[in-house]
Amino acid sequence: MLKGRSVLLIIGGGIAAYKAAELVRLIKKSGGAVRCILTKAGREFVTPLTLSGLSGEKVFEELFSLTDETEMGHIQLSRSADLVVVAPATADLMAKAANGLANDLASTTLLATDKRVLMAPAMNVRMWEHPATQRNLATLKRDGVTFVGPEDGEMACGEYGPGRMAEPVAILAAIGELLGPKGYPMPAPDPLPELAAPGGALAGKHVLITAGPTHEPIDPVRYIANRSSGKQGYALAEAAAAAGARVTLISGPVNLPAPYGVHVVKVETAREMGSAVSDALPADLAIFAAAVADWRTIDEAGQKLKKDGKAIPPLQLTENPDILARVSRLTDGRPALVVGFAAETEKVIEHATAKRARKGCDVIVANDVSPQSGVMGGENNTVHILSDAGVETLPEMSKDKVARALIDRFATLLKTKA
Ligand code: C5P
Repeated sequence: MLKGRSVLLIIGGGIAAYKAAELVRLIKKSGGAVRCILTKAGREFVTPLTLSGLSGEKVFEELFSLTDETEMGHIQLSRSADLVVVAPATADLMAKAANGLANDLASTTLLATDKRVLMAPAMNVRMWEHPATQRNLATLKRDGVTFVGPEDGEMACGEYGPGRMAEPVAILAAIGELLGPKGYPMPAPDPLPELAAPGGALAGKHVLITAGPTHEPIDPVRYIANRSSGKQGYALAEAAAAAGARVTLISGPVNLPAPYGVHVVKVETAREMGSAVSDALPADLAIFAAAVADWRTIDEAGQKLKKDGKAIPPLQLTENPDILARVSRLTDGRPALVVGFAAETEKVIEHATAKRARKGCDVIVANDVSPQSGVMGGENNTVHILSDAGVETLPEMSKDKVARALIDRFATLLKTKA
């Protein structure tokens, strides 16, 4: 996937630096070359020996090292790669880069490079949320820097919130996107053999997944949306790819990195999602995990609606096409297994059973999304799988674990259809 491409990896000082070693290994494994710059603080967490062992290259540390300057000056170093990646990007490195400071090799390289820069921030949640860091983030984004993460989670310091560095696999996926043939975007890379179990349960199958919300425009600046984060659908895509499938993920607007090895098609509205699904067929397994808006406005206002002191403009709604029902009823080219989701706030099983019959799909995965369940946007999920075989209820688990369990069940069901 990264054959012939080279990455210059700047490793800042933070507990997440240990993950940088894994990132080096993944880049090498996907065919890319990687050179590392290790900051003084980074050296406290990962050794140059580990990095040079994994990268097969000299590790650069000092700005004024005579040998380095003769062999390769810092300007040349900053331009020697196709992409500069900063992982972990500490608050200090972000502040330096945002303000153009150049007092060590890492910051000088960031100022001198003419290549795209990808940063994977990692820091304490208070540091991340501090207005200074948020200001620096906005400046760097304006300067064209791309970001992956940080993610929410428990931190080494015991606090909880955004600040955890994205996993190496997610950083690798972001690198893949930036290093596509024309720079951006990159077609679906083959899953790494170690991530896609050889002969995995879905090897040779095409899996189509919808995820996230849809946005239905009211006027050029307003839209109707819902609280879906897309996490469950993205986790399903990752699990399907790990099971060896070729995966097309049709995603509404979400704030999640593309899962590694998955072809992501980004859409906004229900109608765009519907046509992207048609374009992606045929598929062996289709999973409709998106929270598609049921209604859209009859027509989008060409200009921003104005408060003109008169009556409040009425929102005239019309129903969106039901993608799941349409694909379930295809007579030609229907996927062997069609799965829908039912997000219910009461009488979960009863409503989901009715929905399965109404939509004509093979399986309904039902979950309780009442506000007290914390499912919408949360990390965990409790699901009930309704199929011809009856109802199976899985214990409450992380959305990743739910995804793996579901993919496992779907692969088994798919075999019975073959
Ligand atoms: O009817 P309801 O929205 O509750 O159905 C949920 C299921 O139907 C989900 O699997 C969702 O992805 C799918 N759906 C769809 N197109 C719509 C509405 C829902 O594919 N317009």
